[in-house]
Amino acid sequence: MSTEVTDAPSTPRQRVRIQTGEREDLGAREPANGTAPALAGAGQAKPAARETIFDVRDISVSYGASTAIAGVSLKVPRHLITALIGPSGCGKSTFLRCLNRMNDTVPGFGLTGQILYHGNDLYAPRVDPVEVRRRIGMVFQRPNPLPKSIYDNVAWAPRNLGMKANLDERVERALRGAALWEEVKDRLKQSAFGLSGGQQQRLCIARAIAIEPDVLLLDEPASALDPIATASIEELMLNLKHRFTIVIVTHNMQQAARIADRTAFFSLEVSAGKRTGALVEYDETSTIFTRPKDPRTGDYVTGRFG
Ligand SMILES: Nc1ncnc2c1ncn2[C@@H]1O[C@H](COP(=O)(O)OP(=O)(O)OP(=O)(O)O)[C@@H](O)[C@H]1O
Ligand SMILES: [Mg+2]
Repeated sequence: MSTEVTDAPSTPRQRVRIQTGEREDLGAREPANGTAPALAGAGQAKPAARETIFDVRDISVSYGASTAIAGVSLKVPRHLITALIGPSGCGKSTFLRCLNRMNDTVPGFGLTGQILYHGNDLYAPRVDPVEVRRRIGMVFQRPNPLPKSIYDNVAWAPRNLGMKANLDERVERALRGAALWEEVKDRLKQSAFGLSGGQQQRLCIARAIAIEPDVLLLDEPASALDPIATASIEELMLNLKHRFTIVIVTHNMQQAARIADRTAFFSLEVSAGKRTGALVEYDETSTIFTRPKDPRTGDYVTGRFG
């Protein structure tokens, strides 16, 4: 199942380094301090012409002999929040991790179909997965700061990538972007482990945006947090979408309804005794929650199932 998003004219391409020493075009990347375009707020997004960041075409993913998701097609539009919802085991994390090739090293991982990123095949042989992850950052369910200072956590990826110029400014910009600067500016040299869970998760977001990615993938980023910390992460997402394209997995229906412009509902389909994740419906969030086309979506979002 797929939802069409009218593609806007493509933006200038940017050349990037690849493993073989040749160069592969992965598409345009936003500057971290780019100005926010005029965008509708969450839930108000119109199906207007919008650049497609990911064009996922009929992908199926397997781990060894078992198929985790089958026949998934959808387009992720630029500078919107796309939420992935569905019952446990339906393949939300699997799908998300395919978007930045995080599954590559999983034993038995196999993918058929195509994922185009800015129109370029993300799994083409010459594309460097490290460059992919530099452009497509990820934040996980549990905050996972490094055993380093707050400053060094944020500076870690820029240092590794040789982005050492104006590092102090870069760290401050990332911490401000993650709405954490005011809380930590006087303790930058202290251990990240001294932060609260919500602060640690915002630190991980700062770490992800410090290298100025194009896309942020978040896998249940607020599920380990209390309601106040969750609210601050949600507010942060709404601010960050003006700078990044965001794809977020959440089990929290209210959260998807509050922050996502588009929502994809996955479910577990049973066939010949095998359970496989499938995309049931993908649409504007308001449609998914108030006028879903598929009864399975309605059952799930109203709590009758799952
Ligand atoms: N590394 C892996 N190796 C083998 N099988 C895996 C691996 N990761 C996920 N799977 C399987 O793929 C299927 C989808 O799992 P996935 O973690 O993507 O689901 P999910 O929708 O994110 O679930 P949850 O809501 O519980 O996080 C499951 O059957 C799971 O057991
Ligand atoms: Mg998951």
